[in-house]
Amino acid sequence: MTNGKRQCRPGTSATSIAMAALAVVLSYMDGEVLAVCPNMCNGHGECGLENVCECETGWDLVADCSLKECPTGVSWGSKAYEENTAHVVMECSNVGVCDRVTGSCSCPSGYTGSACQRLACPNDCSGRGTCATLGQAAEFYGVTRYGGVGSFVYTNWEADMVMTCICDWGYTGGDCSLRMCPKGDDPVTTLQESPRVAMTVNATDGVMEGNFVLTFQGESFAFPANATQFDSTDCEAAFEGLGNLEDVTCSRGDVGAEGGATFDIELVAFPTFPHQNNVFSHDGWPGLDAFSCDAANITGATDPVCKFTVLQDNNLKEYEFCSRRGICDFETGRCDCVDGFSRANCDVSESQITEDLDADVLELYTTLANFTGNVLYLKTERESSSYFNLIKAASEGENTFVLAGDGTLRMYKVRELF
Ligand SMILES: *[C@@H]1O[C@H](CO)[C@@H](O)[C@H](O)[C@H]1NC(C)=O
Ligand SMILES: *[C@@H]1O[C@H](CO)[C@@H](O)[C@H](O)[C@H]1NC(C)=O
Ligand SMILES: *[C@@H]1O[C@H](CO)[C@@H](O)[C@H](O)[C@H]1NC(C)=O
Ligand SMILES: *[C@@H]1O[C@H](CO)[C@@H](O)[C@H](O)[C@H]1NC(C)=O
Repeated sequence: MTNGKRQCRPGTSATSIAMAALAVVLSYMDGEVLAVCPNMCNGHGECGLENVCECETGWDLVADCSLKECPTGVSWGSKAYEENTAHVVMECSNVGVCDRVTGSCSCPSGYTGSACQRLACPNDCSGRGTCATLGQAAEFYGVTRYGGVGSFVYTNWEADMVMTCICDWGYTGGDCSLRMCPKGDDPVTTLQESPRVAMTVNATDGVMEGNFVLTFQGESFAFPANATQFDSTDCEAAFEGLGNLEDVTCSRGDVGAEGGATFDIELVAFPTFPHQNNVFSHDGWPGLDAFSCDAANITGATDPVCKFTVLQDNNLKEYEFCSRRGICDFETGRCDCVDGFSRANCDVSESQITEDLDADVLELYTTLANFTGNVLYLKTERESSSYFNLIKAASEGENTFVLAGDGTLRMYKVRELF
């Protein structure tokens, strides 16, 4: 342009006239163009060259800028464009219908978000859970695990689209509507072991400072990386501080120069009322991937790791609903124990049953020669009364011996022996 002006300056007056004429023609054409652009671009665009509307962003679906476009999202369904690759970005995520006046997506039921780009959680998780994307749910396990098991971040196409309920502790089901019953060890199966894992913290160089953060089935604690500051007692207390573990024993091995050590961890008992839900649950063996460790906070050492290995994962005690000796009512969360079993989780056998012909069904004894206590002491908070018995014995339903609550003794067939 600047160049052009310089070239024009020495021109004749004829050239000036021609230029002026051209300007008039151009301005005339400009007016013509405005007049023939379709529907004057509906106020959502400007009329450009060749009578084409230059629509505002979001209005260029049709030539006259009259239809609004809707928000876009990763399509739920579309044609794959490479091997195992699909889900291009499309309007209303290719599942909703666009309202061309308002530019908002109308989503089919079960889909939500401005571009129908997310699934809705069923029943809003019944008010008993958190609605999370798959990506968020993955974070519940700890996004980054240094040297631990199962290091991962979830980034598949539906990571931010598919929603799932993460139920509050004690609730389960896709919509968190089910109450979990008490769990326990089946009292009938005996001679079983508790799960045991070894946890090794270590580094290749330097001395570890800072904290590891341990996560077990969605619950966490931080512990000092310098194992000198985390002995067996500390370890036990830390694990038992988790709501999903009741009784733990922990034994620390020698502490190395890097501050590392190996801990032998036995999960002796899990709580009767489970700290479990639809994503964190097990029946006695939580699995090695239930443990993870974050070393992001460790300084002073190279390649800090926190690894877990299995020490005992077979012949394990059960941790099942109603201890397998009752039926769980998932509406009330209560066990209906079968006959002969009791307690909230049915883990106690009410009677000792024997199949030996000549066995003692119940034997109480003391081995102390100087014993001065009671071998059997029956106590009641009720005052002395004939309305209850302290002892009752019967054969085939017929009383043979009764010691009533007021001290009355009835023996139904007293025979003189001497
Ligand atoms: C580890 O902890 C022990 C006990 O607190 C301390 O004496 C030792 O200096 C620590 N090691 C390092 C390298 O910080
Ligand atoms: C920690 O790593 C060092 C160096 O690799 C090694 O010598 C030491 O035995 C390890 N300690 C433990 C407890 O694994
Ligand atoms: C590291 O641990 C300290 C002390 O527990 C804490 O204040 C800090 O936030 C942690 N940093 C990271 C990155 O986790
Ligand atoms: C038991 O009694 C004997 C004597 O009868 C006595 O020598 C012994 O010390 C007592 N043992 C205990 C533990 O009291």
